[in-house]
Amino acid sequence: MTAPTHATATFPHRHLLGIEGLTAEQISLILDVADGYVEQNKKPNKKTAILSGLTQVNLFFENSTRTRTSFELAGIRLGADVINMSADGSSVKKGETLIDTAMTLNAMHLDALVVRHNASGAVKLLADKVNCSVINAGDGNHEHPTQALLDALAIRRRLGRLEGLVVAICGDILHSRVARSNIHLLNAMGAHVRVVAPPTLLPSQIDRLGCEVHHTMKSGLKDADVVMMLRLQNERMSGQYVPSTREYFYFYGLDYEKLEVAKPHAVIMHPGPMNRGVEIDSEVADDLKRSMILDQVELGVAVRMAVLDLLTRGRRGNAE
Ligand code: NCD
Repeated sequence: MTAPTHATATFPHRHLLGIEGLTAEQISLILDVADGYVEQNKKPNKKTAILSGLTQVNLFFENSTRTRTSFELAGIRLGADVINMSADGSSVKKGETLIDTAMTLNAMHLDALVVRHNASGAVKLLADKVNCSVINAGDGNHEHPTQALLDALAIRRRLGRLEGLVVAICGDILHSRVARSNIHLLNAMGAHVRVVAPPTLLPSQIDRLGCEVHHTMKSGLKDADVVMMLRLQNERMSGQYVPSTREYFYFYGLDYEKLEVAKPHAVIMHPGPMNRGVEIDSEVADDLKRSMILDQVELGVAVRMAVLDLLTRGRRGNAE
């Protein structure tokens, strides 16, 4: 099987802990390599052997459907041996600390460790202790870099570029690692980022990350090219952030009426899982012409293949 484009380019980082700190060139390299894997994933034979002999462990301390499955598929399609571990089935339940879990896995000579954890910064803590490459699959409300990369790939493939686009990120920004990673990425790539939410769901000084703050969908969606909806992340909330989900939908739920002020070609995104009728109307979510929600899922596998490929190049050497 032919190697994807940029087969010999090197990536200067061992881990992918966040988008913050990556340059536009590094982001573009990941997206370019991912483009090659998108095509490979459409073929009947989706496998290569470039990670053959390497071991990947997916360590998930939080629930996940698409992120875990797509990291697993990505590793398998690159030929790695992939093992999934969840906190429920591990010694974490017996009181083992995160560091001890990491050291234990490290002793087994892993090559890539994919981690999701409910505490911001936990993945970095772990990355400092192990010899393998660590990929952040979401840490608390901090970062979720592969989600932002797959979102960027979806936008780039549909609208041809990122630079100059108006992207409105709407909903529970306060608890969202997806929003943070997207703000960093879109700024690095020269897009104009808006966040749209009630004041209760916005972190203070979010504008310092380089985005415009809007409290109404009408002003936030005006002339937007991309409308990215986020779920109310109830599991991270302590207390009441919105009066009721009915009222929330009335003011902030995406429907065709609110979408009218966006550009006619505006696309709709959502990282999933969706709460239909809360942050997004079913009709809009299922509108195949405008909604990219399933494209995001498809491209997630390719992006994770690109990240695994690039991060392990150092240990594989460039000669395959
Ligand atoms: C997101 C996450 O876990 O941060 N989901 C995902 O990875 N696709 C967003 C969410 O849970 O709402």
